[in-house]
Amino acid sequence: LGQKVHIYDEVDSTQTIAHQLVASGAPEGTIVLAERQTAGRGRMGRSWHSPSGKGIWMSLILTPRIPVYFMPQLTLLSAVALCRAIQKVCQVEIGIKWPNDLLIHGKKVSGILLESSGEDERLKYVIAGIGISVNLSVEDYPEELRSIATSLAIESGSEVSREGLVQAFLLEFEEMYALYLEKGFAPIRLLWEALSVTLKRPIRTSTPSGFIEGIADSLDDTGALTVISASGERIKIYSGDIELK
Ligand code: BTN
Repeated sequence: LGQKVHIYDEVDSTQTIAHQLVASGAPEGTIVLAERQTAGRGRMGRSWHSPSGKGIWMSLILTPRIPVYFMPQLTLLSAVALCRAIQKVCQVEIGIKWPNDLLIHGKKVSGILLESSGEDERLKYVIAGIGISVNLSVEDYPEELRSIATSLAIESGSEVSREGLVQAFLLEFEEMYALYLEKGFAPIRLLWEALSVTLKRPIRTSTPSGFIEGIADSLDDTGALTVISASGERIKIYSGDIELK
């Protein structure tokens, strides 16, 4: 991974560039990095705050020949790789909130967005979009994000090398991806569970048919979260956001 690296000063979104690169034949492992994004994308149609020179705004092209419904597993794999890389590079207590938000002291420091297209039964390609708030200071965040978002520098008390972290992430990702392609999701699931700040905790999520509340119990083979409600019902959550209570 990372044999081909495209670095930009400003883009709308590194995801868009990565999709274009795939269309023009870029191989698996190609990465796109930008100093700033003018229209950074988050999950569920949200935007992603991507100020200049302070973060890692990166997209990674993958071409795993796996069934489409395994995509959530790759999302969880990315979170494991990123969490391990951050733990190696800076001494912070970091954990994963299902499915793939990385939290330090309850605040979000990094997010992952997987996009695929040209699907048939098997995935043709996936773009893993990684956003890490590395050296942002409190003033770099708009007021409304200050209580929910943080950066590695704020939490560790010192600047963190973006190059070092990209390198650490690619190494971890390569290791996790090889493990996944060889042994399947089971070992990744164990690693995810060990890093999770979600399991065994009360959570709440909203669905089109109302709120679900309960204790987050476990991950299933597809990466869905099983929640046990007060009445003992087991409910699976396949996508969306949860709130830790
Ligand atoms: C989220 O938590 O909602 C996911 C955020 C993903 C942000 C990254 S930054 C690099 C890549 N380009 C984008 O436009 N988004 C992802």
